[in-house]
Amino acid sequence: MSLPVTLAAAFAARRARLSERFGGPALIVSGLSRPRNYAGNRYPFRAESHFLYFLGRPLEGAALLVEPGRAVLFAPLPDPEAELWGGKQASLDDLARELEIEVRPIDELVASDELATLPAQDAEGAIWQSEVVGREIIQGSGVELEGRDRELADAVIELRLTHDEAAIRQLRFAAHVAERAHRAGMRGTRVGQHEYEVRARMEAAIIASGCSCSYNSIVTVHGEVLHNERHDGLLETRDLVLADVGAETPEGWASDVTRVWPAGGQFSTTQRALYDVVLAAQRAAIAAVAPGVRYLAVHRAAGLEMLRGLLDLGIFRGDLDDLYMRGAAALFFPHGIGHLLGLDVHDMEDLGDRAGYAPGRVRSASPGDRYLRLDRDLAPGMAVTIEPGFYQIPALLSNPDEVGGLSSALDRTRLLEFNDVRGIRIEDDVLVTSQGREVLTAAIPKMTDEVEATIRDR
Ligand code: GLY
Ligand code: MN
Ligand code: MN
Repeated sequence: MSLPVTLAAAFAARRARLSERFGGPALIVSGLSRPRNYAGNRYPFRAESHFLYFLGRPLEGAALLVEPGRAVLFAPLPDPEAELWGGKQASLDDLARELEIEVRPIDELVASDELATLPAQDAEGAIWQSEVVGREIIQGSGVELEGRDRELADAVIELRLTHDEAAIRQLRFAAHVAERAHRAGMRGTRVGQHEYEVRARMEAAIIASGCSCSYNSIVTVHGEVLHNERHDGLLETRDLVLADVGAETPEGWASDVTRVWPAGGQFSTTQRALYDVVLAAQRAAIAAVAPGVRYLAVHRAAGLEMLRGLLDLGIFRGDLDDLYMRGAAALFFPHGIGHLLGLDVHDMEDLGDRAGYAPGRVRSASPGDRYLRLDRDLAPGMAVTIEPGFYQIPALLSNPDEVGGLSSALDRTRLLEFNDVRGIRIEDDVLVTSQGREVLTAAIPKMTDEVEATIRDR
C-alpha cells in the first residue's frame, strides 16, 4: 500500500460544501510553527487541521478565503532570506497551478467585519491571526465562540464529522502504517531492553512509511500512568508493555492504536485473564458501534462488560447493574471509551466539546462518564476510537474518596493476585458504515495467542 494523494478536486469539493453551509466569507488560517524552547528553535511546522482539510498543503503563514462561488489562497511571497535557510519556496504561480486555486499575496487580504474565522491555538498564533483578520482573535477552544465565528465553527464541524472517500483513504493508510509500527514493536521485544528501544523500532516503521507520529508515543511498562511520557524503563520478564502509537500521513490524517504485550513473550495466567476482560469490553463496544447509536451507549457497553469480567474474576462482589451505577467500572477504567478521529488524533478538539458533544448535550459529572470526549449519535463516515482499559492506579485505589462505598464490594486480597498487571488498554480505530462498522486497524494482532506468536516471530 503506497501513500495516497488527495486530488485538488477533492479539496475544491470540500470548499464548495463549506460555502453551501456557511454563506459569508470564511478565513481558515494555517498558523505558524511553534517554538520548542526559544523563538529560534521551533517544532516542524504543522498546519492547522482545518486548513489541511480544505487545501491539503501545509503552507506556513497562509490563509484560505472561502466564500460562495469563490476560494482564494492568500500566501506569503517567497522570501530570499527564508530561502537561504529553508530552500526554494513555491511561487504564488506554482501554488495556483499545483493547487488549482486562485492565489494572492497575503498582504492583499482585506480585513472586514464580515470575515468569520476559527480560534487560534496558542498566543503567538493568536497575535498573527489577529493581524491577518484585522480584529482580536482569541486563543482557546470553540466553546466561547459567538456570532459568525460560531456559525463557521458549526459548519466546519458538520463537514468534518463524517469523512469523504479521500479522507477514508488517508485514514486507511494511517491505520496500515500503525500496523507496521505495532508489529515491529512486538516482534523485536526482549527482556532487558529499554522502553525507548521498542519505541524507536515502532517510530522507525512510521518514518520509513513516509509518515510521522500523530501524537507523542506512549511505550511503557507503566501503563497505569495514562499519559506516560517516560521511555527509560527496563523491560522485565513479568512486565506488560503498553504501546499507544499512531501514524500521521503527510496530508495530516491520523491513526491511534494501543496494544499491550508481555515483555517476556508470554502472558501469565493473571495477565491473560485481565487482558481477556479488557478485550471482551472492547469487542462489546465495537459491536455496539452503528449508525444512530449514541456514543455514550458504546462507552457504557464497554464499562458494563468490563465489570462483568471483574465480577467473574472475583475482583468485585455484588450485583452488576448496581455496581455499575455506583461507579465500580470507573475505579479501574477511569477514562472515556474514545473520541473522534480524523485530521487530529482527537479530531477537532481545538473546538472543544462543541465538536464532540451534540447540541444540548454536556459532559456528565459522574466518575464513569466525565472524561468522555464524544457524545454524539454515530453516523456513517464518522471515525472513532474504541479504547477501554484496566489500570491499577494507586491514586484511585488508595483514595478513600474514590473507592468510597465500593470498598466492601472490592476484594483486595483477590486483586493482589493480579499485581503483575498495572495497565492494559486495547485501542482500535473504527469507521462507522451504513451497515454498522469497519475496524480500520483490524490487522494489528490483538488476541493473546496472536500477540504471542508475533513476539516469537523474530
Ligand atoms: N493516544 C491518545 C489517545 O489514545 O487518546
Ligand atoms: Mn485514542
Ligand atoms: Mn491512543
